[in-house]
Amino acid sequence: MDKFKAIVSRESSDGSFSYGFEDIDRGFLPDNDILIKVHYTGLNFKDSLVAKGHKGIARNYPTIPGVDAAGEIVESKDSNYKVGDKVIVTGHDLGMNTFGGFSEYVSVPADWIVPCPPELTLKEAMIYGTAGVTAGLCVSELINAGISKDKGKVIVTGASGGVGSMAIGILGKLGYEVVASTGKSSESDWLKSIGASEVIDREELNIESNRPLLSARWVGAIDNVGGKTLENLLKTTGHHGAVCSVGLVASDKFTTTVYPFILRGLKLIGIDSAEQELEKKLQLWMKLSEHWKPEAFDKMYREILFSEIENEIELISKGGQRGKCLVKVIKD
Ligand SMILES: NC(=O)c1ccc[n+]([C@@H]2O[C@H](COP(=O)([O-])OP(=O)(O)OC[C@H]3O[C@@H](n4cnc5c(N)ncnc54)[C@H](OP(=O)(O)O)[C@@H]3O)[C@@H](O)[C@H]2O)c1
Repeated sequence: MDKFKAIVSRESSDGSFSYGFEDIDRGFLPDNDILIKVHYTGLNFKDSLVAKGHKGIARNYPTIPGVDAAGEIVESKDSNYKVGDKVIVTGHDLGMNTFGGFSEYVSVPADWIVPCPPELTLKEAMIYGTAGVTAGLCVSELINAGISKDKGKVIVTGASGGVGSMAIGILGKLGYEVVASTGKSSESDWLKSIGASEVIDREELNIESNRPLLSARWVGAIDNVGGKTLENLLKTTGHHGAVCSVGLVASDKFTTTVYPFILRGLKLIGIDSAEQELEKKLQLWMKLSEHWKPEAFDKMYREILFSEIENEIELISKGGQRGKCLVKVIKD
């Protein structure tokens, strides 16, 4: 195999980090069960953290970011998979300490792989990627917590981002009344076109209040933001509601009292999409490929070439993406 391209993030002796395209060879990758020729990857907030240097996520540098990859198997040491199989990898350690999807090839353990559902193309699988799996997991958890569409509104924060927009699309498809909380008022019409029934300014959830509870405004929440936003979601979610804690784009810290839990019976649900059991992931992909697929799926992403990825990493690190940034790695 000739040399191939990957985004490599390196740490300098002064502790600073930089990333860029390098020509690497097969020996640079780990020798895992399965070698995949990557057709598509996608951009996630976490990828920008790894690319720009985050020892809490990727302990060892150099590394190759990219928590998602979809492509065709070119080498297999596992009897369950053969050359030519179309497969998806999301999460696990991909793009952290295991070289990730911002590369023309990835080498992964067989038990990280999900066969691409026949109803989806590899491209569609990566339009979803980790964002879609995470959003789907949140929706499953809300349903399991008894939040059906007749119970009331569900709010999604970080609405215009990858996880946020996917969550809006899936909830909208399932008939929920969805409130989108965004910092991008210019994207109101787009958020409504993908499934939101109402759009609010994210500053409404960034308020200071000493009150332990505020008027109930919704019954479910999917939070990508953390910090003050999560604090206020806990105060504004109604009786027997549920709040999924997904992300930390504003802050990884929040404070709360026990009152939302003991006076409103609220459930705070932690979401970890990376380490899902294979069976659960397979079931989720089946739903995503069929009756959970958003009506406006084709409006929910923007496709770029692999060679254009560096600018997009900078954009997502500033919260500037709208929807999913799909990256075509394979050349025509
Ligand atoms: N738990 C899990 O399994 C899991 C899986 C995937 C992602 N995540 C986490 O979920 C979060 C979202 O990931 P993503 O890939 O969807 O990121 P993304 O595409 O960058 O979306 C994040 C969105 O949050 C909003 N935002 C950005 N900075 C903000 C700030 N300072 N204050 C308030 N809102 C801000 C922006 O939307 P608006 O402009 O519309 O407000 C932005 O588009 C990240 O923290 C990521 O690490 C967790």
